[in-house]
Amino acid sequence: MNETIETLIKHRTIRQYKSDDIPENILNKVLGAGIRASTTGNMQVYSIIVTKDKERKKEICKLQFNQKMVEQAPVVLTFCADFNRFNKWCKQRNAEPGYDNFLSFFTAAIDALLVAQNVCVAAESEGLGICYLGPTIYQADKLIEFFNLPKGVVPVTTVVLGYPDENPDLVDRLPFKGVVHNEEYKDYSKEDIDKIYEYKENLEQTKDLIEENEVDNLAQIFAYKRYKKEDNVHFSKVLLKVLKDQGFMNNE
Ligand SMILES: Cc1cc2nc3c(=O)[nH]c(=O)nc-3n(C[C@H](O)[C@H](O)[C@H](O)COP(=O)(O)O)c2cc1C
Repeated sequence: MNETIETLIKHRTIRQYKSDDIPENILNKVLGAGIRASTTGNMQVYSIIVTKDKERKKEICKLQFNQKMVEQAPVVLTFCADFNRFNKWCKQRNAEPGYDNFLSFFTAAIDALLVAQNVCVAAESEGLGICYLGPTIYQADKLIEFFNLPKGVVPVTTVVLGYPDENPDLVDRLPFKGVVHNEEYKDYSKEDIDKIYEYKENLEQTKDLIEENEVDNLAQIFAYKRYKKEDNVHFSKVLLKVLKDQGFMNNE
């Protein structure tokens, strides 16, 4: 198997880190590889904020719902959708930018996420571990304040990076047939759904989780505990306000 495929197949999220720093040349190599990602029109409408300072990591940890790996890992990377730099360049060159709308936010968010994933793969190929942090999009307003992000910049994901201090098993995935469609989308029958989720639902750890959470099944853990409607609605409002405040909602 070639090394790239092997790195991808062996991916697992790391949540325990050694205190060892990442040598500057390794970090730069990983960031440099990440930056080679495809971006829309090669505009590179993203920015990456590197945090190593212990006190600042402590603050970010609080904003990331106190997930301890933020303090533990030596490097925290915040990936931002960023039209600020591009807008400035356009204005300085007598080109009126038209990037204050939702499409432009989505474009920049795609660029930022592709770079983030490239950085993660590069990091893993160098023996580093990574963990994405979901709260970034729930706490975007607070992170904007923390990082002094100007208009045109919105954080879209965060990744912690460091040397692994655990060796977790690979986490399951839905079967290939459950996620890949040939030529056109084949909607799922009731039987398809039962089959696709069968393996996941029968894992020992799933049974333990159901008991712990006092619910009937795994789907209820997602719908009623982990990603519940009231939170989704609340954080949608926060994010829409952020997009407006950061100048991405002039859609008329
Ligand atoms: C956008 C995104 C946000 C995530 N947020 C968190 C998080 O806040 N905390 C965490 O421990 N893992 C987080 N993860 C990791 C996922 O839980 C993990 O990728 C998933 O359970 C599959 O496990 P694996 O990466 O080990 O294969 C996130 C992953 C993604 C892609």
